[in-house]
Amino acid sequence: DESARLAEFEARIAAGETIEPKDWMPERYRKQLVRMMSQHAHSEIVGMLPEGNWITRAPSLRRKMSLIAKVQDEAGHGLYIYCGTETLGVDRAELVAELLSGKAKYSSIFNYPTLTWADIGVIGWFVDGAAIVNQTVLAKTSYGPYARAMIRICKEENFHKRQGFEIVATLAAGTPAQREMVQDAVNRWWWPTLMMFGPSDKDSPNSGELLRWRVKRFTNDELRQRFVNLTVPQAQAVNVSLPDPELRYDAASESWVFGQIDWDEFWRVVKGDGPCNRERLAARNKAHDEGAWVRAAAEAYAAKRDSRRDA
Ligand code: ACO
Repeated sequence: DESARLAEFEARIAAGETIEPKDWMPERYRKQLVRMMSQHAHSEIVGMLPEGNWITRAPSLRRKMSLIAKVQDEAGHGLYIYCGTETLGVDRAELVAELLSGKAKYSSIFNYPTLTWADIGVIGWFVDGAAIVNQTVLAKTSYGPYARAMIRICKEENFHKRQGFEIVATLAAGTPAQREMVQDAVNRWWWPTLMMFGPSDKDSPNSGELLRWRVKRFTNDELRQRFVNLTVPQAQAVNVSLPDPELRYDAASESWVFGQIDWDEFWRVVKGDGPCNRERLAARNKAHDEGAWVRAAAEAYAAKRDSRRDA
């Protein structure tokens, strides 16, 4: 019966086993994974937009090639995670429809504008750096297809982070105008990056269940702190300052203590009223509409191939 199955499921998780698509799982577990994985896939896809904005304006051919490769990787990550989500019995077309209608959530961070070339460096350093902190832990998540997707994705995220940090280091060692540009980008991206990790633990309704089933292995606040501890020394290494007067090292906890996050801003952006939410959704809808002929052609091709195979 149901409670015996649940006990067996939880015992498997406690023993560190991974759950695979055909295994029995509680409906709540399945729903939570569909929610989290689809939001993650949407984030990868929407995340192409702020950086795609600079492909035509990259300052050199080498920078342009790296940026194109990175943005293309994000598309791959999104498609990969949509496939993973489909193993839970949902249809990708439905998930995409929820994104396009504005019903689905995606990461708050991609609703901020990329104003200068320095933003591309800082996004690689901060945003991909934050993604790595979150996703290396998700590589040990209890659902097999999601964990395996994360392993490959993290390898690519490391390249993204390095290309970003190299841009930042170059600008930070450059002319006064370049140093000012990179400092301005750091000032604008620092707090929104800390918000990526989600609400503080006391305001995180999903964490309890996700931790119990080892979908999450650390809380939002724990991962946020890990990111801050990793990033402060990197900022010192390139001589940029982080825009937080309260930032200080606490020897007892061996951690960098930071100031208050503006949670009103966070919820405003999550609920659709950030600086670029409307622009991002409009761009996704336009791309989807303009890609209709590609989907039609792919379907026609598949139908033709199937009919040949049957003949
Ligand atoms: N942006 C938008 N929505 C957010 C964010 C954020 N930064 N953080 C939390 N939320 C939403 C949650 O999705 C949840 O909404 P829902 O219940 O309506 O679905 C609500 O705020 C409450 O948050 P939590 O209960 O803390 O949600 P959860 O336990 O799922 O934790 C987190 C949020 C940390 C983002 C988790 O889902 C996660 O690790 N996801 C996978 C990683 C991911 O999506 N990364 C995307 C950005 S990285 C990249 O794309 C390069």
